[in-house]
Amino acid sequence: RSNFIIAIDGFSSCGKSTVAKALAKSLNFVFVDSGAMYRAVTLYFMRNKIDCSDSAAVLQALDQIHIDFVPSTDRVQIFLNDEDVSEAIRKMEVSDNVSEVSAIKEVRKAMVAQQQALGKKRNIVMDGRDIGTTVFPDADLKIFMTANVDVRAERRYAELAAKGETVSMEEVKANLARRDHIDSTREESPLRQAEDAIILDNSNLNQSQQLDFVIDLYTQRK
Ligand code: C5P
Repeated sequence: RSNFIIAIDGFSSCGKSTVAKALAKSLNFVFVDSGAMYRAVTLYFMRNKIDCSDSAAVLQALDQIHIDFVPSTDRVQIFLNDEDVSEAIRKMEVSDNVSEVSAIKEVRKAMVAQQQALGKKRNIVMDGRDIGTTVFPDADLKIFMTANVDVRAERRYAELAAKGETVSMEEVKANLARRDHIDSTREESPLRQAEDAIILDNSNLNQSQQLDFVIDLYTQRK
């Protein structure tokens, strides 16, 4: 393999995508937000009232789902069957259901295959929960991000408030705790730190400090 793969995993709302995006921009790599894919699948399941325990229905639904990433000025838009769902997938109701949908074996199988295809030839930065463990176990650089839960809740709360969504801090905290619990305890590729991943605790780091940290590691390994 001649392309360079950077895997960034970690808990919910640690700022993984922010670091991954900045990193991809600075290195001119492709950025893939794997969580956005699970969110898009969840949105489809919610709209079409798919019963998560009915594997035939799940497989049939997965067959109907087509996800695309389209880079535009300074951000990446995500399309679900040609509809721009970049905003819709960030809503609290999707966050409330995404971990249940992501725990389904068939869903993971389909998403992992798509993610692996995206990393076939290109230099890529992918963030998620199982990128360093399952999607790209041979990634060239693996980062595991973590941050104090209060810091994470405050960040997510501010993000939702800026978009005009009215949720309480308690709701945000409960959602993060619940997702972390389901994501870490599910049977199929649970969230855990890969043995060769480097920890980045960004509770007290600003964005440029985080970027410097990862760029240094990249420079040592490239
Ligand atoms: O990264 P983000 O918080 O948007 O991810 C939303 C959810 O998608 C996570 O809470 C998790 O349930 C699921 N996910 C996953 N595996 C990934 C990325 C996200 O299960 N690689």
